[in-house]
Amino acid sequence: MKRGIFISLLIVLLSGTFLQNCKHEIPTPVVFSNDCDPDTIYFVNQVLPVIQSSCAMSGCHDHKSRREGVELTSYSKIMKTGGVTAFNSGGSMLYEVLISTHNRMPPPPASLTISQIQNIKNWIDQGALNNECLGCDTSNTTYISRISNVISTNCVGCHNSSLAEKGVLLETYSEVKDIVNDGRLQDVLDGTNGYSVMPPYPAVLTDCSKNQIRHWIETGAPQN
Ligand code: HEC
Repeated sequence: MKRGIFISLLIVLLSGTFLQNCKHEIPTPVVFSNDCDPDTIYFVNQVLPVIQSSCAMSGCHDHKSRREGVELTSYSKIMKTGGVTAFNSGGSMLYEVLISTHNRMPPPPASLTISQIQNIKNWIDQGALNNECLGCDTSNTTYISRISNVISTNCVGCHNSSLAEKGVLLETYSEVKDIVNDGRLQDVLDGTNGYSVMPPYPAVLTDCSKNQIRHWIETGAPQN
């Protein structure tokens, strides 16, 4: 109970601080790297897509709704309104709400996975950089090593058992295979045949992820 009160107070205090901070421009360094470090969490690859697909949806923290003044659509908005203190996940509202026992975000029954939460924590503790890893290997892309992760990072936030936009679920291999078989996965990558591009604007799949999905589909979309 006491811990709950403490966390609420912390959130109130932090929100106040961050509203004041909104006046200041926060520099947005982009650190590109071709040599991907397995111990580094890359914002563009591993953090932004999760936040965009699980928090920045309509009615929550997109540009229009901005619930509690928090907009989580881009690096600069996340840094300005999401309550991130670089190198200090424990003092960062963005991380605190993910593990909070009574104010958890996204609101139950939705939840980020343990590894997504850990990635956000590590990203903050590594300095909350606007970094991206550009290395891309399409030849060794398997469903288990890569595609399932791309889908859970970029799509499952809106296509799961509690929120199934357009009746599409993408939590299991067979659900993903269904939209490969009827051609819709290819169509939503590029917005062809009248389908909207997925994920919806302003989120985007990186070119690397798109190419890996295309290559995997071309080889028969196996559960490898
Ligand atoms: C922020 C929420 C959100 C995310 C993230 C998202 N979608 Fe969607 N998806 C929607 C909405 C909303 C619709 C309905 C769009 C429409 O009717 O035009 C939809 C529809 C679809 C459809 C059905 C299209 C049709 O008209 O039959 C497919 C397939 C789809 N999404 C796949 C994906 C894939 C693959 C990803 C990840 C790369 C993804 N979605 C990420 C919200 C999302």
